[in-house]
Amino acid sequence: MTDTSIENRPASATDSARLAGTNRFFSATDIHAYYGESYIVQGVSLEVDRGEVLALLGRNGAGKTSTLRAIARVGTPEVRQGEIWLDGQALHEMKSHEAAIAGVGLVPEDRRIIQGLTVQENLELAQIAEPIGWPIELLYERFPRLAERRKQEATTMSGGEQQMLAVARALARNVKLLLLDEPYEGLAPVIVQEIERIVREIKEAGITTIIVEQNAVAALKLADRAVILDSGEVVFDGTAETVLNDEELRHQYLAI
Ligand SMILES: Nc1ncnc2c1ncn2[C@@H]1O[C@H](COP(=O)(O)OP(=O)(O)O)[C@@H](O)[C@H]1O
Ligand SMILES: [Mg+2]
Repeated sequence: MTDTSIENRPASATDSARLAGTNRFFSATDIHAYYGESYIVQGVSLEVDRGEVLALLGRNGAGKTSTLRAIARVGTPEVRQGEIWLDGQALHEMKSHEAAIAGVGLVPEDRRIIQGLTVQENLELAQIAEPIGWPIELLYERFPRLAERRKQEATTMSGGEQQMLAVARALARNVKLLLLDEPYEGLAPVIVQEIERIVREIKEAGITTIIVEQNAVAALKLADRAVILDSGEVVFDGTAETVLNDEELRHQYLAI
């Protein structure tokens, strides 16, 4: 098996960039990203410490999803400038599958549950290649609803259950940075509570997480720090508590 991990590659120019850069567990520095000629992510910088939960907030269209996609190296938007580092690995030089192997776990808004497969098969598929994360039995312990439905075709489950599966599937891989894009979107309050419990457990397990939410208060309750985007730029970077206590800031950028 080919070893694709950055740690085992010979020293290169990127190592000096790394030494010159930040020593944070995760950093995205001055990211500029485009959909075709549409300039969307306009110089975003973020840092996250190991084990920290960052809430990435902002109004609809602010560039949150685009920023997560840039980090996960999904084909679009195209990152034309900036560096992205995760635990000493240069994500900005990687394709999406390489970033996944490097430990980026993106749970997209649309969840991308595989049609025609059961819950169990979706989880097994996530573990067909190294690096493997939480064992499937542990995932079932943490997500009892999924255990009950392990033989059910996954796309026939409720939206909340599919969201749980999408998160479980990310944890089935050895994820170093979990990216959650609006995990509470469109879900009933009782399901939101269950997803919140899971995110809290993920935090307690020490998994570094960036959570994007329209429901800013829910995200801020869990987050250590918050970054607010507006028109593709960072307009606030500070503690979650500051945002919760600053009505003007929330009113201006979050519409809450
Ligand atoms: N595939 C795309 N092609 C062109 N523009 C896009 C595409 N996806 C998103 N955008 C634009 O990028 C901006 C940011 O979108 P997005 O990152 O989805 O914002 P958010 O997640 O904060 O709601 C919006 O103006 C949106 O219209
Ligand atoms: Mg979005």
